[in-house]
Amino acid sequence: MNTDKKREVWSTKIGFIFAAAGSAVGLGNMWKFPYVTGMHGGGAFVLVYLLSVIVIGFPIMVAEFMIGRNARQSPVGAFAKLGGTRWWKLVGWLGVASGFIIISYYSVVGGWILDYVVKSILNQFQGSSVSQIEGMFDGILKNPVRQVGYHALFISLAIYIVKGGVSRGIERWNKILMPALFGILLLLVINSLLCPGAKEGIKFLFYPDFSKITPAAVLEAMGQAFFSLSLGMGAMITYGSYLGRKADLMNAAVEVCILDTMVALIGGLVIFPIVFSYGLPPSAGPGLFFKTLPVVFSKLPWGGLIAFLFFLLVTFAAITSAISLLEVVVSYFIDEMNWSRKKASLLTGITIFIFGIPSALSFNILSNLALLGEKNVFDSLDFVATNYMLPIGGLLIAVFCGWFLPKKETTDQPGNNGKNFYFYRGWLLVLKYITPVAVSIILLQKAGLINF
Ligand code: TRP
Repeated sequence: MNTDKKREVWSTKIGFIFAAAGSAVGLGNMWKFPYVTGMHGGGAFVLVYLLSVIVIGFPIMVAEFMIGRNARQSPVGAFAKLGGTRWWKLVGWLGVASGFIIISYYSVVGGWILDYVVKSILNQFQGSSVSQIEGMFDGILKNPVRQVGYHALFISLAIYIVKGGVSRGIERWNKILMPALFGILLLLVINSLLCPGAKEGIKFLFYPDFSKITPAAVLEAMGQAFFSLSLGMGAMITYGSYLGRKADLMNAAVEVCILDTMVALIGGLVIFPIVFSYGLPPSAGPGLFFKTLPVVFSKLPWGGLIAFLFFLLVTFAAITSAISLLEVVVSYFIDEMNWSRKKASLLTGITIFIFGIPSALSFNILSNLALLGEKNVFDSLDFVATNYMLPIGGLLIAVFCGWFLPKKETTDQPGNNGKNFYFYRGWLLVLKYITPVAVSIILLQKAGLINF
């Protein structure tokens, strides 16, 4: 374990908030949230999602920050230090493995987005027919060289930033990219709200039709909260480990949860008004983002510019998330193996790039290679990581913090003065009793062991 080097720290409180929000705000908000909301009927789904953020997301986020800050170690070291027995270390390992797997295919999707940024700069959407635009996405998927090339480019950006260190790389870039993201988002939402379909879009997103709440929608919402808030694999443990002693964790978690949820909702407010203005189905599924939106952009006045801004925004969101995934793996090698940051970022980054190649080839050369059932490599990795590894990790993190950390460690926190006392008690109660039950239900259902 690395004890002789002084641990890197965030240089400002707002830098940490931006970094954690940068991790949370990603493809999960801009790509996945709108389309799952679309598929599950809108407002009612949004309501269940908000509830999941409060009951599952927020408590686990505080727990992750707390474990990281108390141990001042990345996940493996943190569990070794606080856990006592050897077994808890496995939770840290699970996190490093999840980070490794998720970034390997997240980077492939990041590559698609970069490809769309280039397309929008070349103004390829304007003046193309619907079938041409829809064909562009299939064209990307079918081209192995292009897939691997953009995957390489995306992961290189992440490696470059992580190599720069905590405050000079991660924090600095988040401080630039996150405000830029908010600015672009604001421009785009104003534009959308001026569309003729604005009213219908808003109604779709916020008017809950309770008949649309199905058990499948509830499970999807809970899983989505996990992924969107970057929980269950120690990304927030790692970011928390660079915090000073005085930071108020509750406050930070409230801010990050609110920012992430706002971006998801505003993302919906950007997308649905334009979708409704052109009478397109909100339930188009994963293709909503890559096929429906570019079609819509091609018809909007100033559509070329709007498409460019939109894909640039999503690139920023994806990069700041990818660096948090990479940092979990990199910090393991720095803390546990005593590697330099430069060596750790380059070696793990290149290894992850190579590991991600089969995912990049899943839609062309390797499209017939089925790993799990009918699923190709890309879908299999995503399936195992988001449906099992993250919820299992999250469950164990909640149980560890709620039941095994000495009570003094969890309640004796800066900011926990008389005023916050009940808030802390309430948090601990939810973390001990409600969060683990809710996450267990998701897991059992996904494993097919219970059925609604
Ligand atoms: N939250 C990011 C998104 O919404 C993805 C992500 C980054 C993530 N780091 C994570 C998900 C850690 C789970 C765990 O796209």
